Amino acid sequence: MRSWYFEADGDLLASDAPEESIRFGRVVRRYAYRGRDHQVLLRKIEQDCPDLAIVRVPETDKDLLRKFSTICDEVIVADCQVAYSRDNVRLGPPEPPRDRTFEIREVTEQDLELLDSIVEKVFEGYPSHYSANPRLRGFRILDGYKEWARSSVSEPSGTCFFWLKDRKLIGLATSSFSPTTCEISLAGLLPEHRKAGYLWHVGREVVEAVVKKNAPTTVTSVLVQNKPMHTVLSQLGFVADYSFYTVHLNMLGRLRGDRTAHGSRKS
Ligand SMILES: CC(C)(COP(=O)(O)OP(=O)(O)OC[C@H]1O[C@@H](n2cnc3c(N)ncnc32)[C@H](O)[C@@H]1OP(=O)(O)O)[C@@H](O)C(=O)NCCC(=O)NCCS
Repeated sequence: MRSWYFEADGDLLASDAPEESIRFGRVVRRYAYRGRDHQVLLRKIEQDCPDLAIVRVPETDKDLLRKFSTICDEVIVADCQVAYSRDNVRLGPPEPPRDRTFEIREVTEQDLELLDSIVEKVFEGYPSHYSANPRLRGFRILDGYKEWARSSVSEPSGTCFFWLKDRKLIGLATSSFSPTTCEISLAGLLPEHRKAGYLWHVGREVVEAVVKKNAPTTVTSVLVQNKPMHTVLSQLGFVADYSFYTVHLNMLGRLRGDRTAHGSRKS
């Protein structure tokens, strides 16, 4: 599963979010926009009129943020992330391993239950944009991360890596490949293996595996407050390209007019 913000270059991207709609019991749609004409995005959201619009916009576009309040009842700036890329063609593989006790292995269909339990531990309490929206409290957001991780195993374009130290599982990373790019989406260490300097070693293994799979670039995005991730990404040759906000627009009925709870027009 790709987070497709990376593809919104000037264009408007808009899509249904069926898994999130089921999970949160409301019509959820996702948008990404990096263009200059704000009306293109605002009109589209107004026309679609979902219960919750999850919108990704450039961090530099403060004007657009202000305008959201004109089309919905509640605007939540739910996170700010930095988008990174690594030019694998120019840089090649990362520097050699400094510690041979670290390795990775690809997750298979036989590992799915184990994968669920690792995702649950790694992302327990993770400050995602979902947890910033008080109207989504009470929903099991971790189930979304589990589904996402599972899709990186089941989808042909995905690969999920377990991180190991001394052959013991310490964390994971999920990725998704297109002909031009590999996107790393979820990554993390089990709580008991944090703050020990492991991230560089396992990150190095993932970058090497991606280069071996001939992806010309690797992209990822990281919450602005996640200091270890920023440090290690730059050590591995990633550069920060831009930053963006994830904004939740809770519609709460202002625009709904004569719509049903499922977003379709009443006849
Ligand atoms: C993000 C995450 C992987 C970072 O892991 P981490 O272990 O903290 O990262 P590092 O291995 O780089 O270690 C960082 C800290 O350990 C310290 N450290 C580094 N080497 C060390 C060593 N040998 N011994 C002790 N401490 C060490 C660093 O100084 C740094 O400390 P600081 O944060 O106080 O500056 C981890 O917090 C995590 O899995 N979080 C949940 C999921 C998540 O946020 N994922 C990212 C987005 S999907």
